[in-house]
Amino acid sequence: MQSKIELLKQIEDEVLDLKKSPLYKYRIENNYFPVIGEGSYDAKIMFVGEAPGRNEAKTGRPFCGIAGKVLDELLTHVGIKRESVYITNIVKDRPQENRDPTDEEIKIYGPFLDKQIEIINPKVICALGRYSMGYIMQKFGLGDKVDVISKMHGKSFNAITTYGNIKIVCLYHPCVAVYNPNRKDELKKDFEVFKKL
Ligand code: URA
Repeated sequence: MQSKIELLKQIEDEVLDLKKSPLYKYRIENNYFPVIGEGSYDAKIMFVGEAPGRNEAKTGRPFCGIAGKVLDELLTHVGIKRESVYITNIVKDRPQENRDPTDEEIKIYGPFLDKQIEIINPKVICALGRYSMGYIMQKFGLGDKVDVISKMHGKSFNAITTYGNIKIVCLYHPCVAVYNPNRKDELKKDFEVFKKL
């Protein structure tokens, strides 16, 4: 049986060679890296963001820029160590000028997230922002429960996976507090859901 490291490496190799992606050319032209994910391969909690920003595409690391600083602060607030969780994105390559990912891109990259979930087997999957929320809720048959993120943030749902029951947690994307620092308290309050879980 292949190890988690080998299986995750396979995902990396496939994404590196993903010429069918509309973001492939942009990555090559700018010497960017795809951002596969980072953290514990045995993580109980997986965070799923939207897509890499500039810092992330330059380094290949998720949430290493300003939104990452906010995420780090939120994790510290609830006493979770960044190394103990797994952090990834729904779209693995940077969209031009940080535009929103398209449906086509989410469709192309989604299966890589599906595989990551099957390898890591997290007990809690946290959707950061509306795009990952939409994909993850749909994936677990909870599409009919989806509303706008302003109504969904802080809520958790039960979901059934191939490896047992898990929780899906919907959260605002940390960049909300980058644009408006006053909202950090609201994000902190939402993160307190982890104390209950
Ligand atoms: N925003 C995201 O959604 N993901 C990152 O990795 C960085 C910023």
